[in-house]
Amino acid sequence: MNFIKQLALGVSTVALLGSAAMAQEGLEGMTIGFSQIGSESGWRAAETSVTRQQAEEWGVNLQFSDAQQRQENQIRAIRSFVAQGVDAILLAPVVATGWEEVLSEAKDADIPVVLLDRGIEAPEDLYLTSVASDQVLEGRVAGEWLVETVGDEDCRVVELQGTVGSSPAINRKQGFEEAIADHANIEIVRSQTGDFTRALGKQVMEGFLRAENGGQDICALYAHNDDMAVGAIQAIREAGLNPGEDILVVSIDAVPDISPAIAAGEANATVELTPNMAGPAFEALAAYLNDGVEPEKFIITESRLYTAEDDPEGEAERRRDLGY
Ligand code: AHR
Repeated sequence: MNFIKQLALGVSTVALLGSAAMAQEGLEGMTIGFSQIGSESGWRAAETSVTRQQAEEWGVNLQFSDAQQRQENQIRAIRSFVAQGVDAILLAPVVATGWEEVLSEAKDADIPVVLLDRGIEAPEDLYLTSVASDQVLEGRVAGEWLVETVGDEDCRVVELQGTVGSSPAINRKQGFEEAIADHANIEIVRSQTGDFTRALGKQVMEGFLRAENGGQDICALYAHNDDMAVGAIQAIREAGLNPGEDILVVSIDAVPDISPAIAAGEANATVELTPNMAGPAFEALAAYLNDGVEPEKFIITESRLYTAEDDPEGEAERRRDLGY
């Protein structure tokens, strides 16, 4: 995405979030179904709150369905939205594959579907648009930070992956691997899913520490989200090591909970993912449903790196009105 478009998206996002009392026009009285993945992370909970807040500002009747991390629940919810005849559907897809049949049903019923925050492997005509980050870029930004930080030193990395089969787990892994590919001194020695949760992040990290000489042989942790990093930081502390020093920590999301860890030097870097996917989604739907304007197929949000130099605690405060 070019700079101008990023700027425009940023400006419209700020405008949307800064206008709590200002009604948005074009979707009043419409019913929109939202199939949400669940509440596995702080980021996910914030996305749910922002979507509810946006729905209120747009005068939308939001039908919310929590899938509790299961694709079959999402498929059931979409079928029920289609049966109800909703005006549009928002879908945050838990995994990347297996959507063609149900999305064809929505398409046959003339109900536009907008994907939020994750991608799918399906023909593009099955959804109106996708509002998400460039997840390969997120992984690359995290990897480039590590490359720059360790320089020529040997670095054995452990990786906590997101949910198996989800687009962020696949793409964030790919982007990080691309960033370290030309640096033979940096190697991923262990990689396992922590399912984007704090509890599993801690548990899997405990296993990594046991397997790697009590953690002495680990130089860095790359976690696909902040929640897993927060759990892993606790495991590193309990193993008698200093997170952020003995083991570098880089992750993704920039949720307020990672900020105190960055401020304390226990986490080193995070890549921001805005939870406000609904704002751009409702804008696109308003233009499409009222004036037939086809949005761009991929509306890409910004992926910025934050470190201790970026006033982490101030950042946490600034993020509070993003649903956190
Ligand atoms: O799809 C976005 C990812 O899902 C977030 O990075 C993670 O925290 C969430 O669970």
